[in-house]
Amino acid sequence: MQLEGKVAVVTGGSLGIGAGVARRLAAEGAAVALDYYSHRDAADGVAASITAAGGKALVVQADVAQVADVQRLISQAVSRFGRLDILVNNAGVEQPAPFESVTEQQWDHQIAVDLKGAFFAAQAAWRQFVAQGGGGVIINISSVHEELPMVGNSVYCAAKGGLRMLTRTLASEVARHNVRIVNIGPGAIATPINQITLDDPARKAALLSEIPLKRIGTPEDIANAVVWLASDQASYVTGTSLFVDGGLMIYAGSL
Ligand code: BGC
Repeated sequence: MQLEGKVAVVTGGSLGIGAGVARRLAAEGAAVALDYYSHRDAADGVAASITAAGGKALVVQADVAQVADVQRLISQAVSRFGRLDILVNNAGVEQPAPFESVTEQQWDHQIAVDLKGAFFAAQAAWRQFVAQGGGGVIINISSVHEELPMVGNSVYCAAKGGLRMLTRTLASEVARHNVRIVNIGPGAIATPINQITLDDPARKAALLSEIPLKRIGTPEDIANAVVWLASDQASYVTGTSLFVDGGLMIYAGSL
């Protein structure tokens, strides 16, 4: 076990990548606080599977778009488990729409969940890291679309591009207390966020044609990267992005 005695918070831990990450961090020995926005049963199911396997889990309802909620999430995790070592900013939404039809509400919602939420969760985690004497890691689940343009998905790309610069900027600010911040850029992963694509044979085939490794990724593929980045094995890694995408970004970028 690589994370024995550590405490982690995973936002959006009830479904998809977040659920896989929460389970895997717990399997590596971390106590895990996971938040959900609306899928309470799913979050309880993740926590139950963690505790059934002998791990520690806490479920918190929180809307990461609300700063007070992310601050409460971090403080509840610390109250329960005594400290904080790892924050995984995973919660995200994606509402593709042609540029000309994007509404103010769609813009505000995606930016609030995908970018603002990650920023203020990082800030709350940072304050806790400093208060307990330094050390800690912040992992943002970004996307290949922090770098790769996607037609018809401008707001999501803007949010993920924002995460890219956020991590590069904050890395220098937080390093003085030995805190690391990194992005993981998943490609196409089998989760609810892209269920519509995966359920459509033509769209799925088009997507697979752009993935050199010729498979859709799994939450476990991302969880493996999270464990490594959260561990001391990655103690010299900060301010950068690790793409876990079967080669999608490089290949699609060369089309
Ligand atoms: C999106 C998916 C998309 C994938 C590859 C992800 O960030 O959430 O919907 O399939 O990028 O383009």
